[in-house]
Amino acid sequence: MTLKVSVIGTGYLGATHAACIASLGFSVIGLDLDSEKIALLKQGKVPFYEPELEELLAAEIKSGRLSFTTSFNDLADADIHFICVGTPQQENSLAADMRFVDSALEAIAPVAKAGSLIVGKSTVPVGTAQRLSARLTEINPAVELAWNPEFLREGFAVEDTLRPNRLVVGVTSDAAEAKLKELYKSNLDTNTPWVRADLPTAELVKVAANSFLATKISFINAMAEICEAAGGDVTVLAKAIGYDPRIGSRFLQAGIGFGGGCLPKDIRAFMARAGELGAEQALEFLREIDSINLRARQRVIELVRKDLTEDLTGKKIAVLGAAFKPDSDDVRDSPALDIAAQIHAAGAIVTIHDPKAIRPAQKRFPALKYAESVDECVAGADLVLHLTEWKIYREIDPVELKKLVTNAIMIDGRNALDRDKWIAAGWKFRALGRASN
Ligand code: UGA
Repeated sequence: MTLKVSVIGTGYLGATHAACIASLGFSVIGLDLDSEKIALLKQGKVPFYEPELEELLAAEIKSGRLSFTTSFNDLADADIHFICVGTPQQENSLAADMRFVDSALEAIAPVAKAGSLIVGKSTVPVGTAQRLSARLTEINPAVELAWNPEFLREGFAVEDTLRPNRLVVGVTSDAAEAKLKELYKSNLDTNTPWVRADLPTAELVKVAANSFLATKISFINAMAEICEAAGGDVTVLAKAIGYDPRIGSRFLQAGIGFGGGCLPKDIRAFMARAGELGAEQALEFLREIDSINLRARQRVIELVRKDLTEDLTGKKIAVLGAAFKPDSDDVRDSPALDIAAQIHAAGAIVTIHDPKAIRPAQKRFPALKYAESVDECVAGADLVLHLTEWKIYREIDPVELKKLVTNAIMIDGRNALDRDKWIAAGWKFRALGRASN
């Protein structure tokens, strides 16, 4: 008999997980308390942009393997329940807001059938699983808890879920591990590394991985600051150190830094948790990682002022990119949008273009101007900022673009454009960690 699976929370993580598990042949029911979101998902529509997901989701609904609900009672006969709800940063502290995880457990525990498994996927402070496990024993001792962190990247969510580079399961029994092995059989058949861990280690793997990635990005951004001071070129430096396989070339793209719904809040929540555990000193360096990251945004704004004037009032600035990274419409803690908003607050007239993230950006910053095309965005601009490295921006012809702007000044906040090409077309070209012409 094939396993029946429920997925609680249908954001990036949950909607992707539900569709992908259904595509493996399991019967999956996704739950969210947001009835508008569920109504959309039922029609095979994804309320955010994620390549490949909508097609997959629609196909799985059609196959009859995937359905959605807003009622926990509909989840009663599932063998495995995944908790995929959000853990955003609390408003008044660095710590994660655990309300959604806690209420998901409270709601599913009484209805889960005997012998079923509740599996946390959300990114949580270490110790959460043990706490929830104790609570579960009080409510429904016939159900067990496990933790199975998720490492998917937005923009590659389907690929990362179907073909993860490792599977990590925090379990307290062989039976729980066996059930998860049954679910992930197709990955095991293709030799995906399988790591069995205890509950706290499984939780820690996730935040440790994101902290490492954040550290790598801030490291190269710190090198960019040094290159600027010393007259070096950070893109050449990154390439050269990246050839050492112990370092590796990925995640060494210097620029305006990391954003999104994960890295920034995860390193902050990790620091907060370390403090609670009396191990604050161990993660003191993450404070520096965070401030290098935020400093990159200020450094771009300084470049703008240097090229125009200290007072930006009335200056027309075109911003290419609003999403926190390409192939996503996510603007949560987006460095691009943050810079745009700060320049706007300083008096500039800011017009933003993004291939996918205009609507979400508009919702967050309705006072900014938005353009439907790159040409409309840059028309009459005193300066152009390239802040999210979408492919279409790399394909821009700088000769043609120059005809539309007032001043041909390009600041490449992502070190992704071909500098020589832009300079040859007559642009002043600036980038973080590289010399200007
Ligand atoms: C990140 C992790 O990469 C995933 O493994 C993890 O599962 C996910 O968080 C999560 O916790 O859910 P994601 O937030 O989708 O995934 O984005 P990344 O691709 O990691 O990029 C994060 C930020 O770093 C972006 O703003 C990106 O522009 C920036 N970045 C990335 C750089 O500035 N330089 C680089 O070299 C790489």
